[in-house]
Amino acid sequence: MTRQDELKKAAAAAAVERLESGMVVGLGTGSTARFALERISELIRNGRLKNIVGIPSSLRTETEARELGIPLTGFESHTSIDVTIDGADEVDPELNLIKGGGGALLREKVLAQASRRNIIIVDESKLSERLGTRWALPVEVVPFARAVEEHFLKSIGATVALRAPNGRAVATDQGNLLLDARFGPMGDPGRLAQQLSGRAGIVEHGLFVGLAHELFVAGTDGIRHLKRGA
Ligand code: A5P
Repeated sequence: MTRQDELKKAAAAAAVERLESGMVVGLGTGSTARFALERISELIRNGRLKNIVGIPSSLRTETEARELGIPLTGFESHTSIDVTIDGADEVDPELNLIKGGGGALLREKVLAQASRRNIIIVDESKLSERLGTRWALPVEVVPFARAVEEHFLKSIGATVALRAPNGRAVATDQGNLLLDARFGPMGDPGRLAQQLSGRAGIVEHGLFVGLAHELFVAGTDGIRHLKRGA
């Protein structure tokens, strides 16, 4: 395991400590969230967590959770989630986030909006004074609107790339496309989020503004626990 993986695992374990038996838990997507799934599975098996049900934020997480023996449910049965634990690509000092590096931003945001508490877990490499400094913003678009939304994103200052590793466009769990829009350091992520949300062809974007309640950051000095607004 790399040092970065050890940090991700430590942040995940600290967040999972916040879970209690009987909770409906939102299950994030990505390599850090995977460590949380493993820890939840361990606590279910050793009896410390009972009657937990999870709602996965992607098909990938659904598969992983099933393999790990985490009981799953859906919004048909539970319209609200007690706690969601998820990773992030970039986190600013107000706990605003860029997410979607793994392509699951739409379902992740649905879970975040349905959750009483959102706990974000990262290693310290994800911290950033301003969102957009390190990471392009993932934007999910319907295939029909790809060209027009790409043009729009460029018109407001982004350089844009269709996510297509090895030349094949990635399809999201909803069958849409992903545009990675590099804006550089953002002055006002909330305003940009509103601008993007006003576009019909943009299904969702990876700016999570005001959604994270708590953050566990693992670094060389140990684990820090931050709360939004504190
Ligand atoms: C998935 O779509 C993302 O939002 C992930 O939560 C984010 O990319 C962080 O992933 P890692 O934990 O793998 O860095």
